[in-house]
Amino acid sequence: MCRFPFSLIIGLVSAIFACSINNANPDAICFNVLDYGAAGDGTTDDSQAFLMAWNEACSSETENPTLIIPRLTFLVSPVVFRGPCKAKNINFLILGMILAPDSPQTWKGLDQSQWLAFHGVSGLNVGGSGWINGQGKGWWDQSCRYHPHMKECTSLAPTAVKFLSCKRSSLSDIHFVNSAQTHVLIMRCDGMEINHLIIQAPETSPNTDGIHIQASYNVVINDIIVSTGDDCISIGDHTSNIYIFNVGCGPGHGISIGSLGRSGNIVQVENIYVSRVYLKGTTNGARIKTWQVGKGHVRGVTFENLYFDSVKNPIIIDQNYCNIRGACKEQKTGVQISDVLFENIYGTSSTDVAINLNCSRSVACTGILMKSIYLTSDKIGHKLTSYCTNAYGYSLGMIQPLPCLQI
Ligand SMILES: *[C@@H]1O[C@H](CO)[C@@H](O)[C@H](O)[C@H]1NC(C)=O
Repeated sequence: MCRFPFSLIIGLVSAIFACSINNANPDAICFNVLDYGAAGDGTTDDSQAFLMAWNEACSSETENPTLIIPRLTFLVSPVVFRGPCKAKNINFLILGMILAPDSPQTWKGLDQSQWLAFHGVSGLNVGGSGWINGQGKGWWDQSCRYHPHMKECTSLAPTAVKFLSCKRSSLSDIHFVNSAQTHVLIMRCDGMEINHLIIQAPETSPNTDGIHIQASYNVVINDIIVSTGDDCISIGDHTSNIYIFNVGCGPGHGISIGSLGRSGNIVQVENIYVSRVYLKGTTNGARIKTWQVGKGHVRGVTFENLYFDSVKNPIIIDQNYCNIRGACKEQKTGVQISDVLFENIYGTSSTDVAINLNCSRSVACTGILMKSIYLTSDKIGHKLTSYCTNAYGYSLGMIQPLPCLQI
């Protein structure tokens, strides 16, 4: 079934990807994109071959159909890999590089928000040791964020990989580079595991978040390294049971919950757990930001075991978030933020306000617990401070800078 050198497979393919090399396991069959006409030369558009291989894998009744992208470079236009598939599990094994078209022109008449998307697939495992290269420069050069006066600037650029309406899925071992915008989007998913990723884009690239999670439940992120121009990980609305461990972040904007409630909607974010994160030179560390016009709640958030190296706003809750400082009038509404724990947080801040809990007058932050926090300035002779407004809770153990929570 598979035209694939056996030696290459050894060591690269974990148990879940075992498929019928020499037809040893007839229950799991490979669908190699080369068998569907892909050129793998980095210049021929291989999207049709990818889609044909996907369609066959997806309609295969075998137990573990595996689509294989071998160790070559494949230029792929925007595509959607649709489910549901026949098999309970389906594997998408990337050993080579998937390359995006380098010109935004390719997206003319197409959905500019995406490049590679998986839609409605359950039991999907995307993995391998390969690369996904978004070639985002063409988009960055025309982004309204950095070129607001350019006549045809764009605010929306393709996300490299979207997982839409997925169940019981995973993404592991891939190296992402230079997405035009967000690298990985998890949207309307229940049960997603993300392991061992490297995500890299220039510090100056606009909106190139590492991973964004939206309207999803039961997501685990473990062991990832993100250096980009925006949030390393951002958590959007309608999310719960999100567990994030072992993250290296920087440069970038840190780990963010929000912004939330921008359109006056009812926010529902619950049970977010972030632990063992090393942040270096990021603009924020642990952040929650909500718009005053929003309603609903963010509750049950833990940030613990964080280490900061020259982070600009190490601990920040901004309940008065506004895209233009001062442009948003004070409102009677607000997203309620409660039960937030900051524990075991160490390192250095590059600004003097290291703890900033800027909560709303109408809907205060409650149940904030700070435990064992020791931050110092990255500059000699600077003393750090905390700033709190309408922030209620308790502090335990050593806290530096001195805590400012109201009881
Ligand atoms: C708190 O938020 C208000 C409203 O956005 C802003 O004007 C103020 O500068 C913030 N304070 C700090 C210390 O960030």
